[in-house]
Amino acid sequence: MGSYVKLAKRAVETDMPVMVQYAHQHNHVNVAYEYVLCVGDCVFIPCARERALHGVERKSENLDGASGEIIPYAWICMFYVLQIQELVRGAKNAVSLAQGVVYWQPPKEALDKVKELLWDPSISRYGADEGITELRDALIQKLQKENKLVKSSVMVTAGANQAFVNLVLALCDAGDSVVMFAPYYFNAYMSFQMTGVTNILVGPSNPETLHPDADWLEKILSEAKPVPKVVTVVNPGNPSGTYIPDPLLKRISDLCREAGSWLIVDNTYEYFMYDGLKHSCIEGDHVVNIFSFSKAYGMMGWRVGYIAYPSGVEGFQTQLLKIQDNIPICASILSQHLALHSLEMGPEWVTERVKDLVKNRDIILEALSPLGEGAVKGGEGAIYLWAKLPEQYVEDDKVVRWLATRHGVIVIPGGACGCPGHLRISFGGLTENDCKVAAERLRRGLEDLLSNGIVQ
Ligand SMILES: Cc1ncc(COP(=O)(O)O)c(C=O)c1O
Repeated sequence: MGSYVKLAKRAVETDMPVMVQYAHQHNHVNVAYEYVLCVGDCVFIPCARERALHGVERKSENLDGASGEIIPYAWICMFYVLQIQELVRGAKNAVSLAQGVVYWQPPKEALDKVKELLWDPSISRYGADEGITELRDALIQKLQKENKLVKSSVMVTAGANQAFVNLVLALCDAGDSVVMFAPYYFNAYMSFQMTGVTNILVGPSNPETLHPDADWLEKILSEAKPVPKVVTVVNPGNPSGTYIPDPLLKRISDLCREAGSWLIVDNTYEYFMYDGLKHSCIEGDHVVNIFSFSKAYGMMGWRVGYIAYPSGVEGFQTQLLKIQDNIPICASILSQHLALHSLEMGPEWVTERVKDLVKNRDIILEALSPLGEGAVKGGEGAIYLWAKLPEQYVEDDKVVRWLATRHGVIVIPGGACGCPGHLRISFGGLTENDCKVAAERLRRGLEDLLSNGIVQ
């Protein structure tokens, strides 16, 4: 039996929140909340007493690694994030090609519908931890039809980032090792670190395609002891915009299954595919898929994402519920309704907008041309291009700061993604006209850098 059936001790050995426990036993969360309202004093039994009633002994082991030593890189990552936020605030009139956002708003029809819901009392109450029934039902349908995920259950979260943290808490303990590929999504890296998983094995990507190096993965999964608990990939990728072709995704999944590792695939950009390429998902009892409404439906601030986890793994739902109940309890109910009505617009609503982003991508590609042939990679999917700076600019944060202050354009330093000497450029957040303005500044900045260096 592979270790993928093993969930984190820190989750399994944590008390179940009482309300969720009650709801779970009765398999109907709304009933539980009504019950709480009627006979609250019966339900809010202290956990110790609950345990005593059920004859469960408390484990005294301290499994919480969160207070453990944070290795310096955690601070570097955080430093980058804070630096960029400060740059955005501080560089007056600078335009941003930094943040991973889209320029459109959610569907008007969906916004109009949620406006009508505002005064409904259910909007202001807590909802089921795993998401409102209507949305979960619609997502199950969507997963089956669009993603061919037929054996997956759904938990709605406050965005894909929260989904990732939930999974790290449900699957990993402090001291476990995990695998990522550089350039990696910095928030995923930080989620591991902040939850005490500091043994992060960062694998290489193919220098040409930026695809995760599956040969390296095969070696590390057979050699690392204990075997890494989780392998994670983003498809298509942040920060590179590279998509993982189906056969490679399958190979990564097979390697994980054979080794007994979990595979987490972040599909935040599932609809953001260009040049006729098709995104696909993979399913298995060792695979968890993450999705997001943020970019697809322009819902960044509404905070809705979801986890599709294998229905067949015993105890997974229970552990996820515990974690959910301690972080958001539930995603915002109004936001979940907006997600539901946005979903009703169909994937065409999204792809209609995404197809225009190719123009932005080409505008930015042109602006990056001073860096020379072969310097720019990715961009087959998502909203990112990945550019290599000339060798002398390993300290990419200096270039980023200078581009912001001297040329009024903000990008992300590759060092934040484990690859110093690079830039991540996002082409999703600006309309075509604004993108042209940003691209012009970027082009001039790069020409200036190449001719004169960082001169203030
Ligand atoms: C790969 C990836 N996952 C997750 C997120 C966060 O998404 P959400 O807004 O749903 O938390 C982002 C946002 O940039 C992302 O690029």
